[in-house]
Parts: sequence; C-alpha cells; structure tokens
Amino acid sequence: EKKIVIAVDGYSSCGKSTMAKDLAKEIGYIYIDSGAMYRAVTLYCLQNEIIENGVVDEVRLRSAMNQIHISFQMNNESGKPDTYLNGVNVEKEIRGMEVANHVSTIAAIGFVRQAMVEKQQEMGQQKGVVMDGRDIGTVVFPNAELKIFVTASPEVRAQRRYDEMMAKGEPAIFEDVLANVKKRDLIDTTRAESPLCRAEDALELDNSHLSIAEQKAWLLVQFNRVT
Ligand code: C5P
Repeated sequence: EKKIVIAVDGYSSCGKSTMAKDLAKEIGYIYIDSGAMYRAVTLYCLQNEIIENGVVDEVRLRSAMNQIHISFQMNNESGKPDTYLNGVNVEKEIRGMEVANHVSTIAAIGFVRQAMVEKQQEMGQQKGVVMDGRDIGTVVFPNAELKIFVTASPEVRAQRRYDEMMAKGEPAIFEDVLANVKKRDLIDTTRAESPLCRAEDALELDNSHLSIAEQKAWLLVQFNRVT
C-alpha cells in the first residue's frame, strides 16, 4: 500500500492537532506537530533570556540554533508524542501562555524557519506522516498528496483553547485567550516569511460547527480518495 504525506494547515487552535493526531492513529501514520517545534525554540529563548521584554536577540539566537535539539517521543499514557528540548520533556511548558505569547515572534524569524523546515522535511522523508502547522502544504511539503486547510471562527477557537487549558488546570481568562488567538492570526498571516495561507490545491475544512467524529469521517473520506 502506498504511503503518502498529509499536510494539515490552518489557524491556531482550530483543532488541527486533534484532527491530525486522530487521523494518524487511525491510518497508522506518524503524527508530527510542527508548531511544537516553534514552541520549543521559544521556550529555549525564554529560558536563556534570548527573549527579554518581548524583544528577541537575533544575534544570540542565531548562534544558539545549533544548541537547540528538538525531538518527539511517544507517550504511551496519553497516546500522543511528547516534545523534548535537549533531552528534557517540555510538553507541558510549551503549552502555557508565556510560550504562546511569544511563539509567533520566534516563528517569524527566517533562520528559525529554515532550520525547522529542514528538520520537518527530514522527518517526512519516509512518507506515512501527518504533519500539522501553517506552511506544511505550501513550503515544507509542496508535493504532499493530501492537503487540508482548516478554519474556524476566532471565538470558537478561543473557546476550545480555553476549555483545553481549564481541563489541564492551567489558569486562563477567556478574553486573554481570544486576544492571543487574534494576535497570532494577524502575525501568522501577515509575516514576510512563509505567511499562513491556503495552498492552491488544499481542501478547505471549516470545522466551527463540526464534531470531532464528523471531522474524522470527512478526513477518512479524503484519505481514501487519494490512496
Ligand atoms: O500550532 P501551534 O498553535 O502550536 O503553533 C504555534 C505557533 O507556531 C503558531 O502561532 C505559528 O506562529 C507558529 N507556527 C508556524 N509554522 C508552523 C507551525 C507553527 O509558524 N508550521
């Protein structure tokens, strides 16, 4: 059976990762969360004071790039891969508000993107991957056999992220989460380096009013159509 690359792109907190993860599990593919990689770089910057008061020291970051090693390891309890930064499990830290507030700034830096894209392409070389992000169908895998572009309203997305944080016991205020979602949308779609946009050959899925089960069914139809 031929293995393909599935690119899932879209706005933040639109449920891409849940969708991509479930699909990967169902079809026996590897799931790769490219956003987690940008988040891990951001965490490194915060830990090492490369970001201070929202300002990035790009000179220091450039020379630190080869000291930032990101990997994934399956967590058998959660059934999802955890993100490791230089051998340390940082899955929890990278999901907090502090990283969320700075990640789009880090992800807008050209040399950071170059390094991440290279690593992502390596991880997808063998195919059989579902990768979610912003530029997977446009830059990382322009030849992906299946490309999905996911959208949902900012309010729906903020509510989902808020619920997620509450469920994890992370303190959050809905208005702050909504502001963060909107701010990231703006930065992600207007940045010079690989702005978020739908690849011409991507299928659009607005999931504002779809259940997880409905999304999954739709995805499986698309997958079976191309394989
Ligand atoms: O997907 P997630 O919300 O975790 O991504 C965090 C941030 O990383 C996004 O807001 C975006 O700025 C950046 N990102 C990116 N390119 C990707 C994945 C994420 O620029 N492929």
